[in-house]
Amino acid sequence: MSEIVDDAFDAQQFRTVLGHFPTGVTIVSGMDGDAPVGFTIGSFTSVSLDPPLVGFLPMKDSTTWAAMAQAGSFCVNVLSRDQADLCWKFAKSGNETERYTNVDWHPAPTGSPIIDRAVAWIDCKVEEVVEMGDHYFVLGRVIALEADADHNGQGPFPLLFFKGTLGGFAAEG
Ligand SMILES: Cc1cc2nc3c(=O)[nH]c(=O)nc-3n(C[C@H](O)[C@H](O)[C@H](O)COP(=O)(O)O)c2cc1C
Repeated sequence: MSEIVDDAFDAQQFRTVLGHFPTGVTIVSGMDGDAPVGFTIGSFTSVSLDPPLVGFLPMKDSTTWAAMAQAGSFCVNVLSRDQADLCWKFAKSGNETERYTNVDWHPAPTGSPIIDRAVAWIDCKVEEVVEMGDHYFVLGRVIALEADADHNGQGPFPLLFFKGTLGGFAAEG
């Protein structure tokens, strides 16, 4: 990271402290022509119910965002506890063309990949892209969505990310 405006902390402390905020793990998928593309995204958030809007923040220099931006659509796949391998595979740089190898998927209404066994998917058309620091905020209008409530009788257990580590959800009340 090139510069931090407030010298009360540095980039490392920023990363460490923000890493204490747990997130779900998604793969935001899209199409680059005929080729499926996608990357691991933790910054996914629900934005508005009426109209139905969601968003996420890709790095400005992300090759995957650059590849999928042209199509004007994306699909958010919420990963299950059993999909930790996909989290790392879709976060690794340099393997963009191999990310879907051995991954079963089918197209959402906009054409973006729905990854089999994801806990939920949210298919979107890009509404707006706003530059924010070293990231873009990508706002999407939801076209279709579905949750796998049953998940083959095993419950829809999500994958969680906390302090650089993956884990599962345990209900406490
Ligand atoms: C759990 C997790 C969450 C991530 N969340 C984001 C995110 O919200 N935004 C982002 O730009 N990168 C995020 N990344 C990193 C990207 O997945 C990674 O930089 C990207 O896949 C690199 O490939 P690219 O060059 O094809 O974009 C995350 C990685 C992990 C492991």
